[in-house]
Amino acid sequence: MKILVTGASGQLGHAIILQKPKQHQILCPSRNELDLSDELSCKKYIEFNKPDLIINCGAYTNVDLAEKEKEICLAINTSAPLTFAKILKDYGGNLLQISTDYVFDGKQNFAYKENDKKNPISQYGYSKAKAEELLEKFLKPTNQLIILRTSWLLGPTGNNFLVKILNLHKTKKELFVVSDQIGTMSSTFDVAKICWEIISKWNYISEHNYINHWTCSGISSWYDIAINIGDIAQKYKILDYPAKVNPIKTENYSTLAKRPIFSLLDCEKTSIVLDIICKYWQHELEMIISKIANR
Ligand SMILES: NC(=O)c1ccc[n+]([C@@H]2O[C@H](COP(=O)([O-])OP(=O)(O)OC[C@H]3O[C@@H](n4cnc5c(N)ncnc54)[C@H](OP(=O)(O)O)[C@@H]3O)[C@@H](O)[C@H]2O)c1
Repeated sequence: MKILVTGASGQLGHAIILQKPKQHQILCPSRNELDLSDELSCKKYIEFNKPDLIINCGAYTNVDLAEKEKEICLAINTSAPLTFAKILKDYGGNLLQISTDYVFDGKQNFAYKENDKKNPISQYGYSKAKAEELLEKFLKPTNQLIILRTSWLLGPTGNNFLVKILNLHKTKKELFVVSDQIGTMSSTFDVAKICWEIISKWNYISEHNYINHWTCSGISSWYDIAINIGDIAQKYKILDYPAKVNPIKTENYSTLAKRPIFSLLDCEKTSIVLDIICKYWQHELEMIISKIANR
């Protein structure tokens, strides 16, 4: 298959490219070749290249800045996949849309299932939820769509929480990290693997389980993850001593965007369909940090 990976320079896109099965031909255009904020650029690229499948990892992911840059966030996260969908519909290509726990409001206190009501509380969440809704309308009836929601993506590179906290452990004696937002991390390696598994079972999944959830297993706060990052980094000799991590409440850590207080995704259905068990978050965090230590 000819597969277009958008956002290939991002943390998930990069992991997807690294795990590409040999039989596929991959297109991973730069932002100059395919600008997701430009409808004409999206239209021209897809019409010219006609990929059999698009893995849409490209996104406006700065959750706070999105509150100020609503239009650009909507253009990249909602209009671009919609443009793809309209063209894919014509010639029969498929779309794997990467989405997020931020489509939910976090008011639940048990894990979100695939068909639970979406109610985003940020512009970023709104842009991703709206994309899901529009894509469903165009591509679901013909089984050309699979949505994969994940949460708290961490990998060894990119502008993510793990990389930031690791640097803070190296440079500060004390950190303050939010302890009342609850969810689960996901690793870029693991989510990339699931993308390829889903693609290999496209016909069944697009028909029977077109919305999927995938994260690590277990439950944690950002505070728990920050402590673990310090301890594991010390074990792998990336640090002499971790910084002291102090818990703080969301209300005392001001950000432009609201974030769901509870955003655990229930991955059971996807786990059954793919016959794969989610990896425990601390083990996956250790695997990522060991890769950082060995490079
Ligand atoms: N990060 C998380 O915690 C998280 C959680 C749940 C779901 N997700 C979803 O997972 C997917 C991958 O996220 P990620 O963390 O890998 O994102 P990321 O590291 O921030 O990468 C975003 C990618 O999108 C590209 N991009 C942004 N604007 C573009 C534009 N106008 N034209 C072309 N490319 C553009 C970036 O290209 P440049 O390198 O040129 O900027 C980059 O390759 C996204 O759909 C995101 O919504 C993320």
